[in-house]
Amino acid sequence: AAGEPFSVPMPRLHEQRPVSSTYDTDCYQVDIRPADVEILPGVSTPAFTYNGKFSGPTFRTRVGRRTKIVYRNLLDRPANVHLHGAHVPASQDGHPMDVIQPGQSRTYDYPNTQQGCTLWYHDHSHHTEAEHVYRGLNGFYIIDDPSEDRLGLPRGAYDVPILLRDALFDANGELLFGGNPNDRDVALANGKPAPYFEVDARKYRFRLLNAGTERTFNLTLGTDQEMTQIATDGGLLPAPVVRKSVRVSSAERVEIVIDFARYPVGTKLVLNDAKLGPVLRFDVTRTTSDYSRVPATLRPLPVLPAATVTRDVSMSFDLTTVPFPTGLINGRAWDPARSDFVVKRGTTEIWNVTNADPQYIFHTFHMHLVQFQVLEVNGAPPGIDYQGRKDTFWFDSGDKIKLKATFDSHLGKYAFHCHFLEHSSLGMMAQMEIVP
Ligand code: C2O
Ligand code: CU
Repeated sequence: AAGEPFSVPMPRLHEQRPVSSTYDTDCYQVDIRPADVEILPGVSTPAFTYNGKFSGPTFRTRVGRRTKIVYRNLLDRPANVHLHGAHVPASQDGHPMDVIQPGQSRTYDYPNTQQGCTLWYHDHSHHTEAEHVYRGLNGFYIIDDPSEDRLGLPRGAYDVPILLRDALFDANGELLFGGNPNDRDVALANGKPAPYFEVDARKYRFRLLNAGTERTFNLTLGTDQEMTQIATDGGLLPAPVVRKSVRVSSAERVEIVIDFARYPVGTKLVLNDAKLGPVLRFDVTRTTSDYSRVPATLRPLPVLPAATVTRDVSMSFDLTTVPFPTGLINGRAWDPARSDFVVKRGTTEIWNVTNADPQYIFHTFHMHLVQFQVLEVNGAPPGIDYQGRKDTFWFDSGDKIKLKATFDSHLGKYAFHCHFLEHSSLGMMAQMEIVP
């Protein structure tokens, strides 16, 4: 359906401009609205958008500046906005039951008090999050960190957010939703099918986000060329890690630096997914100077206090229910009236998270409000896919992931769930309540 790969350029995502700014706050206005967008060349596709953009506009701020975004819902149904990975008060978190009715507006107020990182925002409305995100309600939200400027990483035009996702189109170019997500056969990068991107022969920082609702990208570059991972969900790693393949599951962020100075002008390097095939091609077009670098140490991880509480989280499906299986966490489907865990503010906790489903049923796990650190994967030290400041991970059936988190900021009710949004829509979501 998507035609020949590499027939269109990958656009740079639109950066949203504030409508007003003060010394410490930027204010934005965004319409959540239907729009016909061009995804496949020459084809018009109805989508749900933020300000008509597919993918959504990028918000960019700096640590300590405040962001206020007025969202007006012009869809014919409730919607809301969750800033994934953000440390925000519960009232600003886009709780599934806290929605914006059609025709209404509301302001989200974000303090941006966490360290520099690549966040993203997306719809989180009860039962409809998967469809809404699939139809286009997703975008980047980047917090730059002045304390990281001295590292000398590639910046400006050489710091490029890339939103990856999958899609399935019918013969008219409409986005098909509701079938088996495994049937989605088109990889989109910044809203275009397997595009090309012209690069200078120098280093680039790419912020990869998988906004696919139920998809895991396993990416390789060219014929096993090296990519240097520098960051994950919650910000920079302690040190760069050279990788020949990179896994980015739904909602995860992986930041890589690729040094195209290693390749002669004219080289074309394909970023390839193990299942979907070509995702993107980098075309090295010209030489240039490069004063950026990737230092040997980046940013140490915070040392978390000793844990005083241990909890078990088990994720599975009840496959006997019709017409759909029911998503369960610790044996129960999502009930917004229930607080599954009550967490005392200030506590550091260990969570043992198990994928309790049989073979071939994968899950992801995402916790709102905090970044956590994975201590063990099946009793062993975590591999690179689990290292750093994480808020989301992928895990295989039978896997047990031990993580540690400190809940020292906001009070209130926050969700945790499988971030395969088809699964959370089926109930695989629970809630913790942080209390004084
Ligand atoms: Cu990315 Cu509960 O969300
Ligand atoms: Cu799941």
